[in-house]
Amino acid sequence: MDAVLLGIVILQVFTSVLSFDNGAPASSCVDMMPEHKGVKPQPNPAPYSIHPSNTTFQTGKPITVVIEGPDYRGVLLEARSGSNPKAIGTWQTPPINTKFLACSGNQQSAITHANTNIKNNSTVYTWIPPDTVQNIVFIATIAQDRTVFWVKVMSSASSGAGGTSLDVHNSAERIVTLLLMLSVVLLANVQFLLA
Ligand SMILES: *[C@@H]1O[C@H](CO)[C@@H](O)[C@H](O)[C@H]1NC(C)=O
Ligand SMILES: *[C@@H]1O[C@H](CO)[C@@H](O)[C@H](O)[C@H]1NC(C)=O
Ligand SMILES: *[C@@H]1O[C@H](CO)[C@@H](O)[C@H](O)[C@H]1NC(C)=O
Repeated sequence: MDAVLLGIVILQVFTSVLSFDNGAPASSCVDMMPEHKGVKPQPNPAPYSIHPSNTTFQTGKPITVVIEGPDYRGVLLEARSGSNPKAIGTWQTPPINTKFLACSGNQQSAITHANTNIKNNSTVYTWIPPDTVQNIVFIATIAQDRTVFWVKVMSSASSGAGGTSLDVHNSAERIVTLLLMLSVVLLANVQFLLA
């Protein structure tokens, strides 16, 4: 009896190590929870941030995504629209030590690790937006090892082809910053003159 129990425990440890070694399974596509039994995610905020190369993008034009932070070994990376849990768009050739994961019926809709070799700031993922894109967020589960991982780390939202408003907003912000800086300089000068 004990031997059977021991066997089951060994098998469980072995299979969970296996799933960590070989990447997330398709059953993790939606909740993004690794199948590490009895292990809880780390509380947010994660020490990671997800950086898309562009805040706006166009259908079919690839953009790159980097997960910045400490070295990591496990990953599940998807693009989603708003709070819809469906992985959208298509990832291009996975960077070394990673591979595709088929989520939402598309063979290339997610990326996961292919092994436990280190991934880092130099690991660059390339994503191609689908035809209709709105409020894209990149969302990832990132694991340093089998017990230390963060679930559903999100990038800030990006917008699609109609997203020129974001650019306008950005340049408006720039102008405001410039005006603020100008008034600080002016005030400083006035003070200088009054002194
Ligand atoms: C990235 O943004 C720039 C500036 O808005 C734009 O010219 C460029 O086409 C964008 N690149 C992609 C791949 O969408
Ligand atoms: C990765 O990037 C983060 C944030 O920019 C930085 O703090 C960290 O030192 C970088 N790590 C390496 C190994 O370059
Ligand atoms: C990322 O890891 C690779 C392989 O270990 C290494 O060659 C590269 O210098 C690392 N890059 C950063 C930014 O730490």
